[in-house]
Amino acid sequence: MKKVGLIIAVILVVLMMVGCSSATEEPASDSAAPAAGAEKSMEDLVVGYAQIGAESEWRTANTASIKGEAENLGVDLKFSDAQQKQENQIAAIRSYIAEDVDVIGFSPVVETGWETVLQEVKDAGIPVIMVDRRADVPRELYATYLGSDFVEEGKKAGNEMNNLLPEGGKLVELVGTVGSAPANDRYSGFRETLNDNIEIIDSQSGDFTRAKGKEVMEAFLKKYGEEITALYAHNDDMAIGAIQAIEEFGLKPGEDIKIVSIDAVRGAFEAMIDGKLNVTVECNPLLGPQFYELALRAVNGEELPEWVPSEESVYYPDNAEELLPERQY
Ligand code: AHR
Repeated sequence: MKKVGLIIAVILVVLMMVGCSSATEEPASDSAAPAAGAEKSMEDLVVGYAQIGAESEWRTANTASIKGEAENLGVDLKFSDAQQKQENQIAAIRSYIAEDVDVIGFSPVVETGWETVLQEVKDAGIPVIMVDRRADVPRELYATYLGSDFVEEGKKAGNEMNNLLPEGGKLVELVGTVGSAPANDRYSGFRETLNDNIEIIDSQSGDFTRAKGKEVMEAFLKKYGEEITALYAHNDDMAIGAIQAIEEFGLKPGEDIKIVSIDAVRGAFEAMIDGKLNVTVECNPLLGPQFYELALRAVNGEELPEWVPSEESVYYPDNAEELLPERQY
């Protein structure tokens, strides 16, 4: 009996030893996951952020949110401005790999052409968070996407235009940066809801900037003159540039030409107060707080949802004056 007890005890000890060694030798399924009990905190985080540029009031607010929140949280942020060029963003991402940052955030200027560099980031074991804009890449190449539903924004803009032009009309469109997610989605979303009695007579890119918006609107006015009864601008900056062009042409923006744009920046509220803009659909740039929260979770090995959408609203001239003081961007 004693002998049997001894054999069982030996077997148990051997089994425990095997169990312990396999637990320590098992490779981490995700190379970005830290060892158990070694979770990082915000103050430990080193983040590389490849921003698009400074093309709009929206982007300025977005950059301020990313930089300001890093300071609040004590995150070590390495920030670069690509001046609207994809090759500069790619070079910045490669430099963050070389610096071995904990996580990389970026807003892809255009949707395509990211697979090679994102594969390099993955091979280096660094999680990637796409912020504001999405790239067209396989799911395994990024941890999550934090940003707006641009199709929905386009649909909202279409509905607002229908309300402004119940009898129909002739519309021109200022498209955002060619090949960018917001330009593609705001273009298609708008067409999903726009009534058939509103004819889109022309559609050109204004590259999301005030100067280009003005220039393209001048060309539209030269070509179509008073035939134009409405303008849909993919962002407020282009709408504000177009408003100048319309006034210089001798027409009244917001009256002779109804205008719907997207972003809801302070400049749009001012234009609504002056009666020159009819509607702005919100696109929220204040993504800093959510970005670092997601970054920390990714670095600590958590599986994140494919998309974390931002909450957005629609604003009209009626209460623009009351709301302007509260607007943070
Ligand atoms: O990606 C968001 C868009 O980029 C904003 O609507 C536009 O203003 C910006 O430049």
